[in-house]
Amino acid sequence: MIKLQNIKKIYGERTVLNIDGLSFTKGETVAIVGPNGSGKSTLLKIIAGVIKSDEGTVETNSRMYYLPQQNIPFRKSVRKNILISMENADDKEIRCNEILAELGLANLADKNAKGLSGGECQRLALGRVLINEGDFLVLDEPSSAADIEGTEMIENAIRKYKDKTGCGVIMTTHSPVQALKLAERVIMLCDGKIVEDGRPEELLINPKTQWGKKFISKWKL
Ligand SMILES: Nc1ncnc2c1ncn2[C@@H]1O[C@H](COP(=O)(O)OP(=O)(O)OP(=O)(O)O)[C@@H](O)[C@H]1O
Ligand SMILES: [Mg+2]
Repeated sequence: MIKLQNIKKIYGERTVLNIDGLSFTKGETVAIVGPNGSGKSTLLKIIAGVIKSDEGTVETNSRMYYLPQQNIPFRKSVRKNILISMENADDKEIRCNEILAELGLANLADKNAKGLSGGECQRLALGRVLINEGDFLVLDEPSSAADIEGTEMIENAIRKYKDKTGCGVIMTTHSPVQALKLAERVIMLCDGKIVEDGRPEELLINPKTQWGKKFISKWKL
């Protein structure tokens, strides 16, 4: 369980996040959507403990693994990048090979990660997250740099991990198709505030608020 209360994040004069209350339960996949600058990454960083809010509390005793929106790999091989991200396991090599295969990185395993393309780099970053077992995955636009095939690999890997571990997934996305495919709950942010929170079939097709309707009208579902 992750419980946020009275969260505010302020930069200069601007309140970029203002959330009265929000909870996440293990086992659910939640997609956070909203325009550029609406506060999605700020919210994920606060949940993951990467930054602190200026007001409010985040209560949790869950083990989280966080994928930032921007990722920089270590100047090592793809395989090493995954192995050094792994905490405890007896079957390190086996698990690493599984992840490499799942994310289409097996033939790049010995390549220096600095030479990867943007999409490959994003799959590697996800691999470094999925190599560990947590209660929650906190993923900031996990497939934003991926092509169709890469997106499919990423979505399948997230789904497989969730089925195996029973974890919760909190992810941001700009893809309504992805939200419909993966999430049981969608939260819409506008100017740092939650404007919609509900089931994707209802919310992405028939939002309750005027703002939600306008936002969705730009998406071709
Ligand atoms: N370190 C910072 N200093 C000042 N302003 C910041 C900082 N981090 C974020 N902001 C501002 O807070 C707002 C929310 O940023 P955030 O990165 O959370 O947006 P987002 O919804 O993730 O956008 P995107 O879809 O582009 O990823 C933006 O207007 C951004 O400029
Ligand atoms: Mg962002």
